[in-house]
Formats: sequence, C-alpha cells, structure tokens
Amino acid sequence: MDDQRQASTRVLAISGSLRRASSNTTLVEAVARLAPATVEVSIYRGLAGLPPFNPDLDGEGSLELPAVAAFRADLSTSDAVLLSSPEYAHGVPGVLKNALDWVVGSGELVGKPVGLINASARAQLAWASLAETLTVMSARVVPDASIPVSLVRTLDVDGIVADESIAAALRAALDALVRAAIEVPGR
Ligand SMILES: Cc1cc2nc3c(=O)[nH]c(=O)nc-3n(C[C@H](O)[C@H](O)[C@H](O)COP(=O)(O)O)c2cc1C
Repeated sequence: MDDQRQASTRVLAISGSLRRASSNTTLVEAVARLAPATVEVSIYRGLAGLPPFNPDLDGEGSLELPAVAAFRADLSTSDAVLLSSPEYAHGVPGVLKNALDWVVGSGELVGKPVGLINASARAQLAWASLAETLTVMSARVVPDASIPVSLVRTLDVDGIVADESIAAALRAALDALVRAAIEVPGR
C-alpha cells in the first residue's frame, strides 16, 4: 500500500460501552496502540454526553447542540470509523444507537467505511442490528474489518497487544479498514 496516502488516514474508534472496565473500550484502546505510524486512531469519549435524540432538535431551524456538533465534526474529519460494541438484551446499547440516530439526517456516515468489532463472539444479534442500521444509513460496513475478538475480557490493553494472535487479527482488521478508506468504491 502507498505509505504517502496512508499517512493521512484517520480512524475514529467508538466503544459502545460506558462501563469503566469495559472490554470493548479496552479493545479499541489496543487497536490505537497497534496502529502503524501512518494511521491515527482516536477514541471518541463523548457517548455519555450526547443528549437523547429528538428530531425537534435536529435539522433546519434548530440550534446544533455542542455535544452533537462535536460528534459530527469528529466523524466528518475521520476517514473511517471503528465500532466495538457489547450486546444488551439482544440489541445495540441505547447510548450507541442514540449516537447513530443523531447522524442519520446530517449524513456524516454516508459512504464512510466502518469496521464492526466486538469483545464477545456471542454478541451476534447486536452485531447484525448495528450492521443493518449502518447499511440503511449508507455507511460502508467493511467485512474484513469486522471481527469478534473472543476471550478478550480477561486481558488489559498490554495483554491484547502482547497476544500475537489477537494483535494480528486486530492489525489485519485495521488494515482492511484503512484500505477501504483509501480505495474509491466502484473503481
Ligand atoms: C444489561 C445487560 C444485558 C446483556 N445482554 C446480553 C445479551 O443479550 N447477549 C450477550 O451476548 N451478552 C449480553 N450481556 C453481556 C455483555 O454484552 C458483555 O458482558 C459485554 O462483554 C460487556 O461489554 P463491556 O465489557 O465492553 O462493557 C449483557 C450485559 C448487560 C449488563
């Protein structure tokens, strides 16, 4: 891959869990550590600060709320997005779905490559639901960047980075996401 083009690749990573010791947050932190120098992975930490989505506060004539504006700006300035989410009651955690609802109308995810990882191979219903929501929002879910990483709950960031097989899988997923970001679809 062309390093010059990769150098500017920015990935916004979002964990769908607010839990202090979240395995999904640990996973995105590990991806940030594993990223090559040519890829900047920043972690979005504002999920808990987003207000509940209300269409009355969205769109023309309404003042953009600061937390929403910041989230949209973070998405806009990213070339790709990496989501790592737990499953709650067979669905997507409300805080993550709420965040996505804020950008349905504004369109920051349209055409954006998205990788869908998670810290549990059991979270398949939430994964499928997230993939469906992102697809209907016209995001590009990248299959090779979408992997479950089992048994990660017992590991901290250092442990994940040191685990050759998990680190290799995460590097490969990130590489697929970056490739999707620099390739123009349809060419
Ligand atoms: C309220 C609640 C509901 C859950 N529902 C499910 C579920 O339906 N399916 C599942 O696989 N795990 C479920 N879990 C387990 C979490 O998805 C799992 O513990 C996950 O690893 C938590 O992610 P975190 O460590 O990033 O917070 C649930 C956990 C909680 C707290």
